[in-house]
Amino acid sequence: MNDNSKKDIYILAFESSADETSAAVVKNGNKILSNVVATQIASHQRFGGIVPEVASRHHLEWINRVADQALKQAGITDPKAQLDAVAATYGPGLVGSLLVGLMAGKTFAAVYDLPFIGVNHLAGHISAANFVKATVYPALAVMVSGGHTELVWMKKKNSFEIIGTTLDDAAGEAFDKVGRIMGLQYPAGKDIQDMAAKGKENIDLPIAHTDNDFDFSFSGLKSAVLNYVHHHQQVDQEYDRNDLAASFQKAVVKAIYDKTKLAIEEFSPKQLLLGGGVAANIALRRSMEKLAKEYGLDLTEAPIELSGDNAAMIGAAAYLNFQDGIFSDLSLNAEPSLNFPVM
Ligand code: KG4
Ligand code: ZN
Repeated sequence: MNDNSKKDIYILAFESSADETSAAVVKNGNKILSNVVATQIASHQRFGGIVPEVASRHHLEWINRVADQALKQAGITDPKAQLDAVAATYGPGLVGSLLVGLMAGKTFAAVYDLPFIGVNHLAGHISAANFVKATVYPALAVMVSGGHTELVWMKKKNSFEIIGTTLDDAAGEAFDKVGRIMGLQYPAGKDIQDMAAKGKENIDLPIAHTDNDFDFSFSGLKSAVLNYVHHHQQVDQEYDRNDLAASFQKAVVKAIYDKTKLAIEEFSPKQLLLGGGVAANIALRRSMEKLAKEYGLDLTEAPIELSGDNAAMIGAAAYLNFQDGIFSDLSLNAEPSLNFPVM
């Protein structure tokens, strides 16, 4: 067993829940020694989204390579002596994809006799903010990605309670679907952001009302964009795609702003966290910054380059588990629909 009392903790982490195969070495949960990400987006683009079987095959092909590279870049030549734990995402995500990173992590841990930590992918996204600043609890996390849109109440470290979620599409999914309607390639978030920067927010689009104040719904907004485009096509009328992008982005950002504001009012967090692929969106970041300022709240945003899927964020989350002595058994299985524990 490694000596947990030693000052610096080094964790090798794996992430393979969707379409990025990644391995990283993270020191003390907040310093990246390596973070190798192999993306397979190009293979999925012609299908307009992730094809699970294709994703699993890519992960298999890349997992050892990213692990070797991550260890090499971090200067790890003797894993048993230099590492303190191995971590891997075990859910939520695509089961065939999750299994590849999880098996790699568990095997590595078994071979080198290191403790293993299974990490919730969403906890990983939230923990990406730790590379900027340690979290002050209680905290409210805004977790917006391609698969999830969650408001997460964190009373203390390693405690996650979902207080709001999307009833239909996730925020990133809405960006991707609207992008498809507008003829953009998957994933469309960044392209829509770039188009929005050149457009005017002059098209009225609906922001859904939900029974639970903190929940989200984006499918009505998506349909409104579809109707707008169809209508213009039917009457053979041009429309400004940049204006549509700007108006759509404004509606998504406003929905997230409004719900987060209500949650701040209700829960009075000490800190606001922003993470997930959509956290790379500049308009959303500006909006969260404005909101935090209004309430005199401390805001920590995941760095843009760590907003999307990567293993460093899994290492950051695993470190919090390590500190609390939370380890996983090697029998841990992939959980495609893994939810947050409420603690
Ligand atoms: O977190 P992530 O890499 O994967 C999941 O766990 O889902 O998020 C990917 C999502 C995609 O839907 C992508 O379109 C969106 O994040 N995204 C953005 C931006 N960059 C990525 N959405 C809006 N604006 C961006 N700049
Ligand atoms: Zn993700």
